[in-house]
Amino acid sequence: MTEQDFAVPLEAPRYYEPDPSYRERSWIGDYRAAYQKYLEDPGEFWRTRAAEIEWFEPFDRIMDWDFPYAKWFLSGKLNITHNCLDRHVRDGRANKVAVFWRGEEGEEKVYTYSQLLRAVCRFANALKKIGVRKGDRVCIYMPVVPEQIVAMLACARIGAVHSVVFGGFGVGALNQRIRDSGSKVVVTADVSMRRGKAIQLKSIVEEAVVNAPSVEAVVVLRRDRPKVELHSEMELDFDELMENEPAVCEPEVMDAEDPLFLLYTSGTTGTPKGIIHTCGGYAVGTQYTTKYVLDLKEDDVYWCTADPGWITGHSYVVYGPLLNGSTVFVTETTPDYPDPGIWWKIIQNYGITVFYTAPTAIRMFMRVGEQWSDRYDLSSLRILASVGEPLNPEAFEWFYRHIGKDRCPIVDTWWQTETGMHMITTMVGEPMRPGFAGRPIPGVVVDVVDRDGNPVEPGNGGYLVLLEPWPAMLRTVYKNDERYRKYWTTINRVYTATDLAVKGHDGNIMVIGRADDLIIVAGHNIGTAEVESALVSHDAVAEAAVIGIPDPVKGNQIKAFVILIEGHAGSDRLKADLRYHVRMTVGPIAMPSEIEFVDSLPKTRSGKIMRRVLRAKELGMDLGDVSTLED
Ligand code: WTA
Repeated sequence: MTEQDFAVPLEAPRYYEPDPSYRERSWIGDYRAAYQKYLEDPGEFWRTRAAEIEWFEPFDRIMDWDFPYAKWFLSGKLNITHNCLDRHVRDGRANKVAVFWRGEEGEEKVYTYSQLLRAVCRFANALKKIGVRKGDRVCIYMPVVPEQIVAMLACARIGAVHSVVFGGFGVGALNQRIRDSGSKVVVTADVSMRRGKAIQLKSIVEEAVVNAPSVEAVVVLRRDRPKVELHSEMELDFDELMENEPAVCEPEVMDAEDPLFLLYTSGTTGTPKGIIHTCGGYAVGTQYTTKYVLDLKEDDVYWCTADPGWITGHSYVVYGPLLNGSTVFVTETTPDYPDPGIWWKIIQNYGITVFYTAPTAIRMFMRVGEQWSDRYDLSSLRILASVGEPLNPEAFEWFYRHIGKDRCPIVDTWWQTETGMHMITTMVGEPMRPGFAGRPIPGVVVDVVDRDGNPVEPGNGGYLVLLEPWPAMLRTVYKNDERYRKYWTTINRVYTATDLAVKGHDGNIMVIGRADDLIIVAGHNIGTAEVESALVSHDAVAEAAVIGIPDPVKGNQIKAFVILIEGHAGSDRLKADLRYHVRMTVGPIAMPSEIEFVDSLPKTRSGKIMRRVLRAKELGMDLGDVSTLED
């Protein structure tokens, strides 16, 4: 996408005003005053935020900034699981529900805070027993089951670095992530459930650990009956491993700057980036934003529909809500199984109060119509939230009206895997402008600039940048610091989010979309290079280029242009074969919805494929500047 791809909306802004009681009861109170207070003394602001978690040893400095490297809460010692679990058990939340889980067929599991603590300690001891030590990487490739959360927290308990890989990735993508992280253990399940069908995860893992010499053990949660066999020497049963372990495990004392996890995100090359987050800054950032942006209160029942395999699941299913001692609802359910009323039925039956989802889901529900949501009582809802891609005004209005019943504020949160925490939003109680994410939260300084870093005038578009370091920021890209430095050196020593945005006259920011070759399909980031290299690895393919084309529900869909190797004929059969190949290599989320066989691809003189040209042609747009185009 380029700046020319969007037009600045000229019509007079329309605002939605939430009931004043929202602001009065919110943690943030007056947004402007809170932001001003941050600007007056950033150090004091973050010191106060950091005081909301417990430190084994206090930090002696808030932040060190040695461009482009930041360290936060220096010398502070903590364990995030002590903050997520032990302190709540101690302080009166022992029997409060931490996690409600519901499976596709309505089966349930409930963990109170004390039960979750015991499970985490048992699994932490089990991991130790099989040789996992502080600093070792553990790959978690699981469906959305409570054991996925247990596994993540167990790693954090002992200081192992988890690398959660979304259960929808295929063999190639998983293998690449296991190898890059050098994971010692892979935690998985036999199956995940999707629309009544069991998807075999273990067989994907079996293939993905071939040529991954770092892997010493594969721990398998066996859900299916009769239980699948564990064949290889390496495979161990999840429950049996835990069974005889003590339910007490002292939390490892972690330095604030020790790594907590790495999470791969697609980049513009075929290799995904292992984004590194650390213990202290991430804990402070997610505790703060969950409390102040999602405005969670003691008796909320909170549901974020993200999979813990993505950053939203890390920050706002697992760590943020548990840090705040909240009750979290999680489910393996797809939004339309057994019918498109299921989510609304869940909201009614569990009394969900804060509901956090993605624009792609909202648009899907818009399409099937409000007759599904109208059947259920949604009066428990207090706050709605959105993440992952721009919440277009039509989707905003539908969500506001049919789900929030013209009553609940919508918190549209802009952030990234790299930022770890929310950055831009409209705080609860503030007037909402559909199409605009909002303003920076206190603690965050943003701007929209041109290529040279000059701020654009209000009403104009440009690149979204972050001007100040923040506690939950990525510290580096695993084994690839050069790629980390690029975030800060592309434009004028500020953090480039690689998103295009418009600065409104009222200070609100509208995020338009990616400025690079990432395609966001149904909220999932897909790197064009990853899909292209999967296509090229097929015997019939010489060259491939993929682009995103607009889709009314998923935001984008993938279209592939493919040059075949001499002797191969383009047929529907081959198209199906290529789609299947991408599905197996990268995963179902990356499957092109359309494939076109071509004889050549537009390239620059230096041989780079000009996806912009393909896209412009596909969408019938002006080609823009093609002076570098060779053919
Ligand atoms: C996009 C997800 C508009 C954006 C938390 C960003 C959004 C990328 C929004 C990061 C939003 C996320 N409005 N666009 N509210 N939230 N994005 O790393 O392009 O999976 O750069 O993190 O999603 O995706 P990621």
